[in-house]
Amino acid sequence: MNELRRWLIETGMPPHGYCLLWQPDLLALHVISDAVIGLAYFSIPIALAVYLRRRRDTHFTWVVWLFAAFILACGTTHFLSILVLWVPAYGLEGVVKALTAGISIATAILIWPLLPKALALPSPAQLQRLNDQLLKEAEERAAVEGQLRQAQKMEALGQLTGGIAHDFNNLLMIVSGNVERALRHAPEQAPERRNLENALTATTRAGQLTEQLLAFARKGSLLLISQDIGDIIRGVHDLLARAAGERIAIEVALAEDLPPVVVDRNQLENAVLNLLINARDAMPGGGVIRIVGEDVGPEVKFSISDTGTGMDAQTLERATEPFFTTKPVGSGSGLGLSQVYGFVDQIGGRMEIVSEPGTGTVVTLYLPKEAGPDVAHIAG
Ligand SMILES: Nc1ncnc2c1ncn2[C@@H]1O[C@H](COP(=O)(O)OP(=O)(O)O)[C@@H](O)[C@H]1O
Ligand SMILES: [Mg+2]
Repeated sequence: MNELRRWLIETGMPPHGYCLLWQPDLLALHVISDAVIGLAYFSIPIALAVYLRRRRDTHFTWVVWLFAAFILACGTTHFLSILVLWVPAYGLEGVVKALTAGISIATAILIWPLLPKALALPSPAQLQRLNDQLLKEAEERAAVEGQLRQAQKMEALGQLTGGIAHDFNNLLMIVSGNVERALRHAPEQAPERRNLENALTATTRAGQLTEQLLAFARKGSLLLISQDIGDIIRGVHDLLARAAGERIAIEVALAEDLPPVVVDRNQLENAVLNLLINARDAMPGGGVIRIVGEDVGPEVKFSISDTGTGMDAQTLERATEPFFTTKPVGSGSGLGLSQVYGFVDQIGGRMEIVSEPGTGTVVTLYLPKEAGPDVAHIAG
């Protein structure tokens, strides 16, 4: 024990300060420098330990501990350098250096195989990018699911409406046929003639209603012929102006040589009238209705816009549903947009509504210039 003590600490040699001839300035220089380096070294393992305690998901923790031990050992060697200025503990200094050497060699060797693994870990910037991408995909998926739900709802509504309207129409034919026959056989002055005529008028109105329902269900019978939109608008212009009233200006901007579209003329006239009436209803204080036609590739883009109240998101989502209306009882049937939607869809076109509360609404119809293959048989 004494032997070891002598070898480690009391070597009998002069302390290191002796070599410096106990010059105070040299001693101070060494002591201060070693103390500062040693303290700085000691602070690093403490910081690493705090980090590892807080971040338990750190990768390769053991290397960080090894590194901390290495730095701690380096720091200790500097304090021993101070000690040996006065105490000839050269054995102890050598042992600490040997320990430091061992830990540093281990760290130096083990750190290299880790390098590729550490480089393979995603960086915070990469993780952020991935996260952004995931969020974007989730948003897109939600939007597509929303569209799908809407399409499925319209499909189900279409089938239901179409089925009812079809059966109802057949019954209506029987009713109107019988009323007509009774009317034909009723004597000129018979008092029941008025009742029969009223009944017949009502069946005609009911017939128009089922037509609209069939149009939404895409089961209406269409007469598809190449039509000039300008021609159609000119044909109904007086009617439109009368429907719009005095406080509303109608601007028509159809491109020159707008190519013809393959549509059912009656249905398109109906659609234009429905859209115009909606625009008018949205502008009780007056405003401007613009009718625009442009040639866009295989389709003609035909839009009717207004400067009216616009629609909020909930109204916009349900606007094309049959019987959906925000108008008071008696003034809206809720069949206008559904008729336009069904008709445009049936001829292979599509309808788009852009609306903003307080700003106005633009309803755009994309009408095919040529009848598609699935449309041809309806046309025939
Ligand atoms: N141009 C428009 N501006 C504002 N709201 C509109 C417009 N067109 C349609 N809407 C909204 O969509 C609903 C459904 O329209 P529609 O199917 O034509 O039925 P209706 O006109 O009988 O209410 C309307 O009640 C209204 O709330
Ligand atoms: Mg309407």
